[in-house]
Formats: sequence, C-alpha cells, structure tokens
Amino acid sequence: MTTTSPQRSDADQGVDLRAPVQGGLATSEAFAAALRGEPCRVLGMGGDAGPALLPARRWTADADDSDHALLRRCCGATVDIGCGPGRLTHALLSLGIKALGIDVVDTAVQLTRERGAMALQRDIFADLPGEGRWRTALLADGNIGIGGDPVRLLRRASAVVTPGGRIIVDLAAPGGPIRVHRVVLEVAGRRTRSFPWAVVPADQLELLAEQTALRILELVDHDGRWFATLQRGGSS
Ligand SMILES: C[S@@+](CC[C@H](N)C(=O)[O-])C[C@H]1O[C@@H](n2cnc3c(N)ncnc32)[C@H](O)[C@@H]1O
Repeated sequence: MTTTSPQRSDADQGVDLRAPVQGGLATSEAFAAALRGEPCRVLGMGGDAGPALLPARRWTADADDSDHALLRRCCGATVDIGCGPGRLTHALLSLGIKALGIDVVDTAVQLTRERGAMALQRDIFADLPGEGRWRTALLADGNIGIGGDPVRLLRRASAVVTPGGRIIVDLAAPGGPIRVHRVVLEVAGRRTRSFPWAVVPADQLELLAEQTALRILELVDHDGRWFATLQRGGSS
C-alpha cells in the first residue's frame, strides 16, 4: 500500500502496535471508512515523515495515465488482487479485457460492482474461481505487500494463473532490503490490530523471482513507478 499526505506527528511513537486494542476497529471497518471518505491514518510504515493517510481518494478515482501504462501489461483474463474500490478492474473492462476484482473488504467489492465491474469478496490465500486458468494476476499499488510475505503471495499468484501466465507487480523504488511492517490503521481515534505489510524495492525482484521460480519478463521505471512483469513457467 502506498500512502499519501505525509504528516509529521509523534502519535505512533512509543506505541506497541502489536498490543491488543481496547474498543478496537476491524481492519475491514477501517478500509470501509476510508473508502467512504473518512481520514484513515496509517501507522507503522516507518519513514521520517510519521503517519500518513491511506490514499483512498485515489483508489475511488478513475485510473490515470500511469495506471493505464500498468494495465497495458495485462494480457488476457485478469484477476485484480486486492482490487479496492475497483478503479483498475473497471479500467481493464473498459479496455475490453475480462477482469475479476477480489478483495477481503465487502465495501470495496460493493464499490467495484457499482462501477459495473465483476468482484468477489475473497482472500487471495483462499480458492478463487478459475483457479489456475487466469492469464494475468495483477498486484497493483503496492499490493505485493499483502500478508507481509511476498514469496508466499507470489507463489499463490503463480498458482492462480495458467502455465505461461503473467503476474504484474507495482514495486517500490530501488534501495534497501524487503521490509515487513506491522501496520495499524486509525480512524477517528480508533485503531485496528496490527497486520503485516511488505514493501518490496525493485532491486529485490531478482531474488524473489528465484525463490518463486518465476521469470522476469520486464522491470521498468515508469515515471517513478516501478512495474514488473513476471511469468510462470510452462506454456499456456
Ligand atoms: C492498496 S489497497 C488497493 C488499491 C487498489 N488495487 C487500487 O490500486 O486502487 C489494498 C487492498 O488489498 C485488500 N487486501 C488486503 N489483504 C487482502 C487479501 N488477503 N486478499 C485480498 N485482498 C486483500 C485490502 O482490503 C485493500 O482494498
């Protein structure tokens, strides 16, 4: 997940982000509130700037030019993993590409359907329709971070696509190791439990590809967004 509007604050300093939260907020509630337009702070992602806001407004907007550059790499029926409110699932559809959005948050799924795209409330680590038959799996906007274990996630995405199928990934700028953060979301003073989220710099891709038996077809810097195309072995 990328964040927006960094705000210098000491609100997450000295807080044990793994501690159970009294009167806590479910992660899905926090995402749903953010998608309804409530400010949602992201704590625990590190960096000097302190907590940032979840960029929900960008997710609810339409796909922009840079998103379209990412989507041009999708080839055939595509599963948009962690689709949020569906801007990319919808954009794929409008390009004539069959697409299914999946997300664990029901509000995200509803909003995707309201755009006229297909979506299901599913966890990527559970079975999906068309398992092993999708031509492309999309992990956009930092979604390689889902679950905090990029090797497990890429192996799972690889199982979802057909032999020879593609996985399109949006990576962080090169520099440093893969980082796994314990992230907490905060809406109106209520906090979720912490959950793991990984950040994968582009120069770590080779290592990940080796560990997951995926082939790197392309790694490109598109105006500061790092797009990678990976391919599962075998032919479709
Ligand atoms: C960065 S946001 C999505 C942004 C969206 N891809 C876009 O570019 O507009 C991450 C999304 O992943 C979803 N998510 C988190 N864990 C998931 C999982 N295990 N399976 C499916 N979706 C998940 C979250 O609910 C959230 O909507």
